[in-house]
Amino acid sequence: MDYFEIEGKNQLFGDVDISGAKNAVLPLMAASILNTNQLTISNVPNLSDSITMSDLLKGMGSEVDLSSGKIHINSQSLNNPYAPYDLVRTMRASFYVLGPLLAKFGEAKVSLPGGCAWGPRPVDFHIEGIKQLGATVDLEEGYIIAKSNQLKGNKIVFPKISVGATGNVLMASILADGDTEIHNAAAEPEIQQLCHFLNSMGAKISGIGTNILQIEGVTSLQNVDSVDVIPDRIEAGTFLMGVAATGGEVKLNKVNPDHLKTIISCLEHANVNIRVENDSITILSDGNINPYDIETNEYPGFATDLQAQWMLLMSVASGDSTLKENIYFDRFNHVPELNRLGCDISVDLKTATASIKGQRKLIAANVTSTDLRASACLILAALCAEGNSTINRVYHIDRGYDKIEEKLSKIGAKIIRKK
Ligand code: EPZ
Repeated sequence: MDYFEIEGKNQLFGDVDISGAKNAVLPLMAASILNTNQLTISNVPNLSDSITMSDLLKGMGSEVDLSSGKIHINSQSLNNPYAPYDLVRTMRASFYVLGPLLAKFGEAKVSLPGGCAWGPRPVDFHIEGIKQLGATVDLEEGYIIAKSNQLKGNKIVFPKISVGATGNVLMASILADGDTEIHNAAAEPEIQQLCHFLNSMGAKISGIGTNILQIEGVTSLQNVDSVDVIPDRIEAGTFLMGVAATGGEVKLNKVNPDHLKTIISCLEHANVNIRVENDSITILSDGNINPYDIETNEYPGFATDLQAQWMLLMSVASGDSTLKENIYFDRFNHVPELNRLGCDISVDLKTATASIKGQRKLIAANVTSTDLRASACLILAALCAEGNSTINRVYHIDRGYDKIEEKLSKIGAKIIRKK
């Protein structure tokens, strides 16, 4: 298993190109099920999750070709609405295929996702939503068996905002008979891109970017031959927090600053100098960070996928701070590993709140990743630590960051991947 060796205490200087968003690519790949011919998705990061989704679509009969930075998908030959456990358990986003398969074929057999590094991460909103569109849903040997001769529009109110459930129910609703309203819909940029993509196919979705989506059911869709993936706001936020923590001056290119307004505001409250241009963000940090309490929330709030990275930044701030996780009450598996690097973070699971001591002098250690974003925060911590750290199980990081060690090395980090 690959691991990283990192020599810490080097400031970062230079330019980084941010990749396309993993969490936009995956729903777009699922939506290609509804496309009637060849689709090319561009600005695609080279991630193991895209490969997993590609394998899933191929298994259903689609033709998928992953070439550098692009994915070519033709779902004309897709004839097997089945998502097997061995693929779904490796990547929860596989569950996104449920809605489009149901809309296109009137049936779908999709494995329930397996467990996650944290969670429960249930899919009850997804299932309830498609039932309210008229599907019958049974559970057989760990698989969701969904059937419907004709889905019917309905008013759906999610108990709380869910990115995945919004995507699935949205894709199921666009060919339904009648109109659908989705309340507590996700407004994340990745879902906004999915909505615009589906509308380019002929769907009629309005309220995009708000928490209420209106969908007017249509009887057919036309083919869309290309879509360009939006920049990855989580990768961008990860780099911003890394440079803030190590100190230095780095320009992030190919980003959408509008998707990072809350993150930028929090960094500025933490005494970090940020300069925004239309598709780039320059960060300048002398390493003197102010403590700043945050709470994670759905978009446009502070992204839960940047929570671990913020914890690291607050550990090197000049004072103590708190962090409340409002999306996943137990998303704290990274804390013990951060503490092995010299952080001093304690978590109250009852309130999902972490207390973070500032002014920490991080010391290199041998640490192990537990999940994708935890891996990212351990890398940032190792970059700030005195000495040489080893980070194990970097396969987690490869799920969501395209060649992170190359991008970091390019701006002066001392990081090498070893087999
Ligand atoms: C998406 O996951 C992202 N993944 C996650 O990013 C991200 O952390 C999450 O949204 C929140 O922003 C992708 O886009 C592929 P949710 P998703 O449904 O859709 C509860 C990463 O690192 N819920 O918005 O699975 C759930 O438990 C990944 O890139 C239910 O209770 O998240 C959570 O508390 C990690 N029942 C909240 O809703 C359901 O049926 C939000 O989850 C669905 C969700």
